[in-house]
Amino acid sequence: MPRIFVARHIPSPGLEMLKALPNVTLEVYGEDQIIPRADLLAGVKGADIIVSILTDKIDTEVFDAAGPQLKMVSNYAVGFDNIDVVEAKKRGIIVTNAPTPEVSESVAEHVVALIFALAHRIVETHEFTRDGKYKGWGPEMLRGTDVIGKTLGIIGAGAIGSGLARRMKDGFGVKIIYNNPHKNEKFEAEFGAEFKEKEALLRESDFVSLHVPLLPTTHHLIDATALAMMKPTAFLINTARGPVVDEAALVDALENGKLGGAGLDVFEGEPNIAADPKVADRLRKLKNVVLTPHTASATVETRASMSKQVVKNIEEFLAGEVPENAIKQ
Ligand code: GLV
Repeated sequence: MPRIFVARHIPSPGLEMLKALPNVTLEVYGEDQIIPRADLLAGVKGADIIVSILTDKIDTEVFDAAGPQLKMVSNYAVGFDNIDVVEAKKRGIIVTNAPTPEVSESVAEHVVALIFALAHRIVETHEFTRDGKYKGWGPEMLRGTDVIGKTLGIIGAGAIGSGLARRMKDGFGVKIIYNNPHKNEKFEAEFGAEFKEKEALLRESDFVSLHVPLLPTTHHLIDATALAMMKPTAFLINTARGPVVDEAALVDALENGKLGGAGLDVFEGEPNIAADPKVADRLRKLKNVVLTPHTASATVETRASMSKQVVKNIEEFLAGEVPENAIKQ
């Protein structure tokens, strides 16, 4: 009977669906925390299928600890940079992710929230008001900037980028420009979007939102050179993966007035807000920054859809099919 090891229990209805799978043995790591490495290595022993989350590094050590019968890793995430997919392929292990339509909508909503939080200085003015600093109305007090009529540069014209473009164009009268490894004609037709080389996009955008996977080619895609191309009033939003942005360069730009602000949901050394503690301290002091703890897809609806998809991938695999979300390498 195939053995499934679940490294972190997943929300309803996925967990119930896993428990209802016939002819499998199921073991779920019992604590509601990121599984310690030693427990992961012990837990996967003899597993045919691993259910992992994005903080579980699934690499050669885990594959060896599991044993040669391991055939599938079903990742509870859209991103799969936590998994050594090249090694998995060599070993004939199928890797799947969970890019449900709901994830794209939730993340797009979260980006809209960050854009407005930055433009209208929502977090900063909330703290100002709550802390009793509001002593009287003034025409120039805490002015933000309008979103209408501005230009949004989307890097990565996939499902999330499309969800964002739709909202910002239709809802808020924003001009959309984009960069992508290849031109996306549907994206252009649907959102009146114009393809730009990265440099032009950075120069022309009032808001830049990142929607790329973490790959060697996207590591520090936004570095000091890229940041220097951006308008000093522009805002950078990162809901992709922390290492896509060079955090030290970002903090330098923000401190020196070279960038308007940043909305960050992901960080290089999560759960720390920067890989370098000194950079984290500097980031924490900035008022034109809005930080969220990797929660762009954290809605009840979306996390449920992902849990269903994780199990659907397993069901397809158990039925001898290639799962819908099998990562192609
Ligand atoms: C979240 O970042 C995910 O990849 O699902």
